[in-house]
Amino acid sequence: MITKSLRPILFVMAFMFFVLPGTNLSAQSDKDSANLKDWWKNAVIYEIYPRSFQDTNNDGLGDINGITAHLDYLHELGIDAIWISPCYPSPQADFGYDISDYKNIDPAYGTLADFDRLVAEAKKRNIRIMMDMVMNHSSDKHKWFEESRKSKTNPYRDWYVWHDGKGETATDKGQPPNNWLSEFGHSAWEWDETTRQYYYHKFYIGQPDVNWDNPKIHDAFKDIMRFWYKHGVVGFRFDAITTLYEDPKLEDEEYVKDKDGNIVINAYGDKTTDGKKTEFYPQVHDVMVEMRKASDEFPSNKFPGTHVLVGETYVPTINDLAKLYGTPEKPEFHLPMDTQIGLGINKFDVAAFRTRISEAETKLNGNIPLIVFDNHDNPRLDARFGDGVHDTDIQRAVSTILFMTRGASLFYYGDEIGMKTTPPTRKEDVKDPVGVTGWPKEKGRDGERTPMQWDDSKNAGFSNAAPWLPVPPSYTSINVKAETADPNSLFHWYQKLIELKKTNDAIAHGDNVMLDQSNTNVLSWIRASGPNRVVISVNFTAQPQTVNLSTPDVQAKSLKTLLKSPGATDPGNISHIELGPFGVYIGQL
Ligand code: NOJ
Ligand code: CA
Repeated sequence: MITKSLRPILFVMAFMFFVLPGTNLSAQSDKDSANLKDWWKNAVIYEIYPRSFQDTNNDGLGDINGITAHLDYLHELGIDAIWISPCYPSPQADFGYDISDYKNIDPAYGTLADFDRLVAEAKKRNIRIMMDMVMNHSSDKHKWFEESRKSKTNPYRDWYVWHDGKGETATDKGQPPNNWLSEFGHSAWEWDETTRQYYYHKFYIGQPDVNWDNPKIHDAFKDIMRFWYKHGVVGFRFDAITTLYEDPKLEDEEYVKDKDGNIVINAYGDKTTDGKKTEFYPQVHDVMVEMRKASDEFPSNKFPGTHVLVGETYVPTINDLAKLYGTPEKPEFHLPMDTQIGLGINKFDVAAFRTRISEAETKLNGNIPLIVFDNHDNPRLDARFGDGVHDTDIQRAVSTILFMTRGASLFYYGDEIGMKTTPPTRKEDVKDPVGVTGWPKEKGRDGERTPMQWDDSKNAGFSNAAPWLPVPPSYTSINVKAETADPNSLFHWYQKLIELKKTNDAIAHGDNVMLDQSNTNVLSWIRASGPNRVVISVNFTAQPQTVNLSTPDVQAKSLKTLLKSPGATDPGNISHIELGPFGVYIGQL
């Protein structure tokens, strides 16, 4: 029996045991819910080209199970999310960007059950899965288009963009409706004999553009988005989003001229047009408001946390990029890619980087930039920034900008080990339609899509069968096995940068202000969150440099090194930081 005098004490103990921990738990759960809501604001997103990541059934093609097999590796690297470029059923005319069924997995890559297992296994490692949303076009083998092309009265006819040609007769197909060009070469119009009209394709012939003036298309794509949310994805990367609409009057585009007034001929031998009648129509904003609303409304119960919309947004100016975030009342993308910085400069120019990073701070209305340097459409970092001598140091420098700038970071499989662009050397080896049509001026994108280099065994550990693209010879030294074993490798550099981005609050979310702004050799900036201040310096040259970052506001008797290039010395003071060729220093004040 409990005596009366002990009762109050037991009551207080019970209160401490049951209620106070509850209070801590609720503080914890507030933090968790903030993490779930804001996870994308300093997210590290890893793009996987599924065909090239890991083959598990010995057909020479990567597959979904191959991604699942490497989740521990990706967890060790420290990423938050994977964006898988298209893995839906597809004739593979543009390696998945020609989709014949938006609600399934290509049998060559696996099954929906494999996909569900990937999502579940990734979740165990706190890794989110994002899909590619290709809304500008489908495959010509999609049932919508197969119906559409059957007759002018078919219910799917106006799901695509059909027009009469010019000067067409009963026996002659005449000329295409106008001079618009496909991104992949030649006219953007393809004659279809069954109904004797042309259909429009901004990309490959097998990728007819859908008709966004048709409300049924809007509903179809929202439905597709919901389908994948039900399977536990956390968001989408919207493909070719600026090309959804074209000039309804079908006016010709202007030709691009060189400084002597001659029309520029592109790599495919066509007269280059300026693209002004086939891109950047403002209705894209309305579509994204609609998609965002549908996305926000869908409950995120399979993987709790904000659903996030990423955009493939190659736009001409920072102001165009700012508009793609929408407004607080009518939000659009969470993360439209900032292609101005990482894909727009393409050389180590300190002033250009300083200007564009500052613009991302000041001209995006406080929105979160998505920094990106690399993807499956562009030569890899070595080809765009390397000098052939200091490539690894240069990759350290580039990745420092990628992860240490305020915002979210997106990178491409294999960058973390320094995979090299390896284009085909013979036309008969080319797989990408861009290279097939453009050879030899345009060799296509195979060079940046080669198999992931896991180890130094046959086919770099990618497959036991002949890989769909050859493994670059550099795989014997550039591979995951070698680099995870070497503490000074590029892999460990990426891993440490990501860890800093996740654990240091100044780097995670702090302000981003340029320092030493007249320096034309070294890019330096400070990240600050309250008293926590971190300085970052990146040498853009092959010569050693010394920088003085002290200002009346930024002074420190001592600096604590957070990360520095291999072999670099710790600076005694902020006024004297020594950097080797393409060297990097990151230190806390
Ligand atoms: C952009 C994609 O990244 C590219 O690979 C594709 O060819 C085009 N859009 C067309 O979908
Ligand atoms: Ca396979």
